[in-house]
Amino acid sequence: MATISASVYTSHVPAIGAALDQGKSNEPYWRQVFDGYAFSKQWEKEHLPDVIFLVFNDHATAFSLDFIPTFAIGTAAEFAPADEGWGPRPVPTVIGHPKLASHIAQSVIQQDFDLTIVNKMDVDHGLTVPLSLMFGQPQEWPCRIIPLAVNVVQYPPPTGNRCYHFGQAIRRAVESFPEDLRVVVFGTGGMSHQLQGKRAGLINREFDTRFLDELSRNPREVAKIPFIEYVREAGSEGIELVMWLIARGALDERVREVYRFYHVPASNTALGHLILENEATSSGLTP
Ligand SMILES: [Fe+2]
Repeated sequence: MATISASVYTSHVPAIGAALDQGKSNEPYWRQVFDGYAFSKQWEKEHLPDVIFLVFNDHATAFSLDFIPTFAIGTAAEFAPADEGWGPRPVPTVIGHPKLASHIAQSVIQQDFDLTIVNKMDVDHGLTVPLSLMFGQPQEWPCRIIPLAVNVVQYPPPTGNRCYHFGQAIRRAVESFPEDLRVVVFGTGGMSHQLQGKRAGLINREFDTRFLDELSRNPREVAKIPFIEYVREAGSEGIELVMWLIARGALDERVREVYRFYHVPASNTALGHLILENEATSSGLTP
């Protein structure tokens, strides 16, 4: 049986990818960011999964405004790094897991969740930056990756509550897959940030801290945060945080916070990062 025992949450700021690709990770500004992931890289090595189920949003790269799926699962054998205007990032091609991805698709659709099946998709910084933060610059990514793209770019995005329940459905799907596979779920995006308008550059440390605190302890309450509160408190792009609820829904109610990192600024955003393990099966590893 396939299992999910942990989840990783991280911002996916595009400038982090650019800093790494351009050899700037040792510059003082970026060093503070990358140092915050030193423990996580070690944890990831010791808990290397067979498959990462990676929840991210496409930033009008693979999907234009012509076509806006709320939830889209990548069932392809591989996914190329996308060209976002400066050429594709120099990172490995993402190798998928078509068999597990197809199983998850049929299972969650049968559990009443509409899901778009995507057999061809280039993946942008939303997916590749989290991999770079957790794995550095390898020749190949060390495990298979199933992309799950969520629409948080074009109104209306899904609610936090729906994302939380969707995560629970994904867990049931994974656990009904007969092969013994270890799966870790990544939730990406956030934290507070706004890229345009009068409030461009908005950071709300208080909201972010409360979100990080409560996601571990009280996910059902976090799931009730309405869309408009994300916009008011965390800025127009802060809505990306609903994607963290998908990863949280795939874990037990009781979890152990293994690691937390919060840093301002990364580009023009607040950067947040968590690792949570199911309390029942926690490794006990600490920073
Ligand atoms: Fe994003």
